[in-house]
Amino acid sequence: MKKKRKNLITVAIDSPAAAGAGTQAKYIANEYKLLYLDTGKIYRFIGKLRLNNKNNFNYKFVREQIKKINLEKLKDKSLISNEIAISASIIAKDYKIRKIIKKFQLECAYNPPKKFFGSVLDGRDITSVIMKNAMFKFYITANIKIRARRRYLEFKKLNKKIDYKFVLKSLRKRDYLDKNRKFSPLKKTKDSILINTSKLSKKACFIKIKSIMDKKIKI
Ligand code: C5P
Repeated sequence: MKKKRKNLITVAIDSPAAAGAGTQAKYIANEYKLLYLDTGKIYRFIGKLRLNNKNNFNYKFVREQIKKINLEKLKDKSLISNEIAISASIIAKDYKIRKIIKKFQLECAYNPPKKFFGSVLDGRDITSVIMKNAMFKFYITANIKIRARRRYLEFKKLNKKIDYKFVLKSLRKRDYLDKNRKFSPLKKTKDSILINTSKLSKKACFIKIKSIMDKKIKI
């Protein structure tokens, strides 16, 4: 990595799927002018490559694709599908794949473009592996049924044909895969602040997060 920028505001967030971490990360990025990286999208991007390139999907291929990755590519709407999410959590178990992606994540975290005052990354191993020394660490979670309902409504908005029970089942599967894998499992680190979004609105959660951050940041 090129030189790390100094005096950055760094925010690391981990959460199980559909707990509202992305929404909070976007609010944080907007409020404090930080670069936002949804690291799940990188795993989804590779999960999609795996589904579409069954014959030549190997480490070399992934490495070449990751060399060409950028934030624009991660905005691809097709990455928001249940099939790709499951494929993402399958490739996410692979240590070598996680290593290939690490560099890009570190670059975004510690060397964001000059117009940003820092970075906010969300995922499953951000507080535990990628940004262990982040200035702020949050673990955002919510009750699984509430998460499933939220994800179901998101899919419906995108006109995807899917039923609630199926969404609940696949969130359970993904929670299991993400929390029980050998490398970089999802867990709350001791130094992360727990935010449970089950009973809070998006705005109420952000007020909580902002009050924590403002105490430490002197603007
Ligand atoms: O956050 P999202 O649901 O888009 O993530 C898709 C999958 O990518 C997760 O279920 C997880 O298996 C994997 N992932 C990961 N580490 C991250 C981000 C995502 O293993 N930092």
